[in-house]
Amino acid sequence: MAKMLVRMKALMLLTGIFFMLYFGLQPLTEMVEQKPLVSYPEEVVFVNTSECHIAGPLRSAAFKCAIEPINKMRCRKKQLTIAVTKGGNNFLVTQKVAKDLHCKYWLKSARDSLNNKYLDKGHFDLESKSSKEIKMGTGQQIVRIKCLNNLNETKYHDVHYFLPSPDPDLKPEINPGKLSVMVLGIDSISHMHFYRYFPFVKGFLLNLPHTNFYGYSRVGLDAYANLMPFLSGLSANEVDRELLAKEEAFLWQNFKTGGYSTAYGEDNAQGILTHKNGEWGSSRHPIDFDLTPVMMEIDNHTRYSIDLKEMIHCTAGRTYQQVLKEFILNLIPHMQESPFFSFFWHSQGVQEYYEYGGHLDLTYMLLLKKLLDANVLNNTLVLLMSDHGLRAGTYRMSFQGMKEESQPLMVAIYPEWLKEKYPLAMENFEKNAHSLITPYDLHDTLLDVISLDLLQDASIESRMNSLKSYPAKKMPRGISLFLPIPEHRTCDLAHIPSLFCFCRDLTEVPTDDGLVLRCSRFLVESINKLIKPFEKCHQLKLQMVLQAHFLDFGEESFVYELRLRVRTNPGNGIFEATVRLSDVLLLTSPISRVNHFLSQSYCVSDPGLKLFCSCI
Ligand SMILES: *[C@@H]1O[C@H](CO)[C@@H](O)[C@H](O)[C@H]1NC(C)=O
Ligand SMILES: *[C@@H]1O[C@H](CO)[C@@H](O)[C@H](O)[C@H]1NC(C)=O
Ligand SMILES: *[C@@H]1O[C@H](CO)[C@@H](O)[C@H](O)[C@H]1NC(C)=O
Ligand SMILES: *[C@@H]1O[C@H](CO)[C@@H](O)[C@H](O)[C@H]1NC(C)=O
Repeated sequence: MAKMLVRMKALMLLTGIFFMLYFGLQPLTEMVEQKPLVSYPEEVVFVNTSECHIAGPLRSAAFKCAIEPINKMRCRKKQLTIAVTKGGNNFLVTQKVAKDLHCKYWLKSARDSLNNKYLDKGHFDLESKSSKEIKMGTGQQIVRIKCLNNLNETKYHDVHYFLPSPDPDLKPEINPGKLSVMVLGIDSISHMHFYRYFPFVKGFLLNLPHTNFYGYSRVGLDAYANLMPFLSGLSANEVDRELLAKEEAFLWQNFKTGGYSTAYGEDNAQGILTHKNGEWGSSRHPIDFDLTPVMMEIDNHTRYSIDLKEMIHCTAGRTYQQVLKEFILNLIPHMQESPFFSFFWHSQGVQEYYEYGGHLDLTYMLLLKKLLDANVLNNTLVLLMSDHGLRAGTYRMSFQGMKEESQPLMVAIYPEWLKEKYPLAMENFEKNAHSLITPYDLHDTLLDVISLDLLQDASIESRMNSLKSYPAKKMPRGISLFLPIPEHRTCDLAHIPSLFCFCRDLTEVPTDDGLVLRCSRFLVESINKLIKPFEKCHQLKLQMVLQAHFLDFGEESFVYELRLRVRTNPGNGIFEATVRLSDVLLLTSPISRVNHFLSQSYCVSDPGLKLFCSCI
């Protein structure tokens, strides 16, 4: 009897909970199930001009997730110290620890990155259950700390960057006639990727004046080939070793000469601008705040990976990405003080995993909010941008993934007063939202920002007239976005290679067509020519043509090109390129590898060669 009572009670309780849940949640489920008031379009139109039509479907193509859940990845080690600067002095603030630790530290100047010498060394003890502050020095410094327990096991190994606020007594005149510029780069994010997975940032932007540049196209294969035009106005091929050694070739110098302070930070020690052709980075005088030496110290001494592919790194309790974010936040007081040009680039995780992008949404929204709260946005043009879409893997193998690779994210955020002060320039700027544009245009746009007087209506009018005076088949390679991009711009006129151009529909052709096979063999021969001097690499054979498209250049054109995707062996490399058909066959694009090469290329170190080399 008693048992039954208990059972009935339990049943009543459960039913009660069930009803409570059912009715309590009903409004919520109704809300979720409600049809949206406006019907969302199936696709987003990027460009719609007489020469170019590009659109992207809202739905993501199919992709495979990483083996491990990306959102659960955390740095495993503890963050036992943080870096603080107070009253001009640098301090390490330590956490309470469970067991006593003996720590050593090495101190370096952050301003003198070539000189690898330590300024100072020392040691201190971390006692259990108490925290303390250890005075380090002054100014921009890098400190590495290593703590051992009584058994000589390393319990903490980390690097900090001391970045003091500007001296309040030395308030420089903030020039009201200047506009700061911040590049917030996220690698491998296509415009559609952003559209689908960044609802917080998109929502946040609704309250800020901004322009989405839907027609932003890449002009080169990788980050280097797209950021060189952005930073120097030159193509990757035009930038040679000599020019790289000369620091004045880049935007940092242009802004420095224009009276700006400058910063550069990446979440990587081997930055995207370090390239096989050049030694960029040996002399960086125009950069006032440079994260590179910090990342190098971390990478050399305290790095560990948290994903199976070993592409996401930590130092103690922070990811590389968090180190970059700390750098940006510590620069805010400097951005409030003087005109400031900063270039930040984030590539860890996003380069490798399609689903990683979505986890950044909140992080970037909060970062923008901090910039807004600090009033930095009232004085800054922010370019939230990427270099290309995802470059390899399952997502990239789909036709949609292939298109999205060429349509990187580009959003410009600017202060309201810019529109009042420069109405014509800003009208043009906003009207270019659906124009076909490139990194060359962005370079010219930023040069205009350095001399804002160029944006006065009278000056813009005269520049618009001189742009109109160009013959139809000719126009400058780069055009400032403060001018109207001519409606009849084609990929050719914008210097976008056919491989990256999706302005016109592609016509699929059978992969067993004789001409397709001939061109595919030619493509493989071209790869073999590249790797011929390297005896450790196999010569490749055409295994299969996976995809062939005919490129249409319009009725009046006599140019024919094929866009090919082939698989080669040994190594099963999958490559894409465009081949032009005339008396001779001609490669009209760089060769893109769209699957991962993993460990096949262990025998070579040159990143350009790794793509092609299957080691013998
Ligand atoms: C694209 O432009 C054409 C011609 O101006 C117009 O008829 C068409 O509706 C436009 N398409 C979209 C989706 O805007
Ligand atoms: C730890 O290392 C120091 C210096 O190398 C050595 O003197 C000491 O005996 C070591 N202690 C233990 C427990 O191994
Ligand atoms: C990092 O290590 C490499 C070689 O191991 C060395 O050449 C380089 O100078 C080191 N860099 C720093 C910042 O310690
Ligand atoms: C933003 O900047 C403009 C122009 O310098 C200035 O007039 C305005 O007061 C600023 N707004 C805020 C909130 O500081």
